[in-house]
Amino acid sequence: MIFLWAFGTPMLILNTLESSTDLLEKRSSTYSDRLETEMVALMGWGWNFVTMGYSQWWRRHRRGFHQYFNAAAVPAYEPKIHASAHKLLQRLLKDPKKFANHLRYQFGANILDVVYGIEAAEQDDEHILIAEKAMEGLAIGFNPGAFWVDFLPILKYVPAWMPGAGFQKKAADWKISVMATKELAWAHAARDNVDASIAANIAERISHLEGKELAEEMDVAKNVCGVAYAAGIDTTVSTLHSFFLAMLLYPEVQKRAQQQLADVVGPRRLPEFSDQASLPYIEAVCKESMRWQPVVPLNAPHRSMEDDEYHGYFIPKGTLVIQNTWAILHDPEQYPDPEEFMPERFLKDGELNAAIRDPGVAAFGAGRRTCPGRHFSDLTLFMNIACILHTFNVTPALDAEGKPMKVEPRMQTAILSHPYPFECIIRPRSPLAETLILGQKHTRA
Ligand code: HEM
Repeated sequence: MIFLWAFGTPMLILNTLESSTDLLEKRSSTYSDRLETEMVALMGWGWNFVTMGYSQWWRRHRRGFHQYFNAAAVPAYEPKIHASAHKLLQRLLKDPKKFANHLRYQFGANILDVVYGIEAAEQDDEHILIAEKAMEGLAIGFNPGAFWVDFLPILKYVPAWMPGAGFQKKAADWKISVMATKELAWAHAARDNVDASIAANIAERISHLEGKELAEEMDVAKNVCGVAYAAGIDTTVSTLHSFFLAMLLYPEVQKRAQQQLADVVGPRRLPEFSDQASLPYIEAVCKESMRWQPVVPLNAPHRSMEDDEYHGYFIPKGTLVIQNTWAILHDPEQYPDPEEFMPERFLKDGELNAAIRDPGVAAFGAGRRTCPGRHFSDLTLFMNIACILHTFNVTPALDAEGKPMKVEPRMQTAILSHPYPFECIIRPRSPLAETLILGQKHTRA
C-alpha cells in the first residue's frame, strides 16, 4: 500500500488483490463513493453514474443498468453481437490498414444497436461521432487533477474569456456532445416493439407512470441507456486492440488458437456462441488479453466516506482509493513471466484451470462499483476474437526492404489505456475463409 497527499487530497494505492478485497469489497459500505470533480460536472457528465457519488440516485441507475446487463440478460444480445462480429470481418477485409478505426466504429455500432436498436450508418454515423467526442472529454476530465478547477473549485466562476480559463471553453465544447449522447440516440431509438431495443423495453415498462414519477424514471432510463452506450464504446475495444498486438508478437499463440478453431468449428462456418465451451484455448486468449494490458490500469478511484483503520494505518475520510490493477494482474507469483502473453497459463490438460486467478477479479474493478458491463464485454470479446482468428492471419507490417517491422507493446497513459498506433497485415487465411467473410448474410450492425 502507498499513501500520499496530492494537492491536499489523500490517496491510497492498493497494490495487492488482498488489500483491494479487504477494503473495496469487504468494507464496501465505506469505500464505494466517487470524487465528483468540477470538470466532469462542467462537461455535463453529471448524468453518468460511473462518476456519480454513492447515493440513492446512483443506486437507482445501477439497478436499472443491472436489469439489462446481468449474466442472465445478456445472452439475448448474442445474435446482434454475432452479426456485429461478422460485419467487423467485412470491414477488415475491405480496408485492413484501418483496422483500429474499424474496431472502434464497429463496437460503437454494436452497442448502438443493442441499446437503441439503431442501425449505424456505414461510416461517419452521427451518434457514434458524438459519443466519441463526449468520451474524449471524460477520458481527460475524469483523471482527478487534470484541470486546476478540480483543486480550486472557485475557478468555475471565472468567465471563459479570461486568460487561463481555457478549461471553460473545452468544457462547453464537450458538453454539447455529452448532452447529445444522452438525448439524441434516445430520441431516435427503435420502438416498434419491446424487443426492438433496451430503450424501447424501458420506455414501455414505465409508460403507465405519470407526472413527477414518470419524469424521474424517464431521466434514469435515458441516463442508463446513455451510460451503457458510452461505456460500451471505448472499453472492450481496447482489449481487442491489445489482442492484435499480441498476435503480432506471439505468432505461435495465433497458430494454436486457429488450430483449435479448425478442429471445433471447421472451415465451412463462423464460430457460434454454442462453440464457446469447446474452445478453451480461445477463452484463454481472451483472459490473457484482459490480463496482459488491462484497460483501466489504475481502476476508477473509489472514495472513502468515513475515517477508517487498516493494519494499524489511519485512512482519513475522503481518501481516494486506487486499486493498482496493473500490479495485481502482473504479480509474478500468480502469473509467472507476467510481461509475456501466455494463454497457456490458464489451462491444464487442455481445459481451463479454475485454480488460476481469473483476471476479471481485478480488471473489472471491485466491490459495489465493480463493472456491471462485464458479462456483455465477455461475450463480445469472445465472439470477435474467435471470428477474427478463424478467418484472418495477423502478421507484422513490412518495411521498405520487405522485412517484418518490430512492434513494441506500448500503451498510452490515461484512465482508459489503449495501445499506441501500430501497423499490421490482416489477410484472409484461405479462399474459403474469404467466402465465409463475404458470404454469410447479416441484417444488423
Ligand atoms: C474490457 C472491457 C471492460 C473493462 C476492463 C471495464 C472495466 C471497468 C472498471 C475497472 C470499472 C470501475 C470499477 C470500480 O470502480 O471498481 C468499470 C465501471 C463501469 N463499467 Fe466497465 N469495463 C468494461 C466494459 C464495459 C462495458 C462494455 C460496459 C457497458 C455495456 C461497461 C459499463 C460500466 C459501468 C456502467 C461502470 C460504472 C459502475 C459504477 O460506477 O457503479 N463496462 N468498468
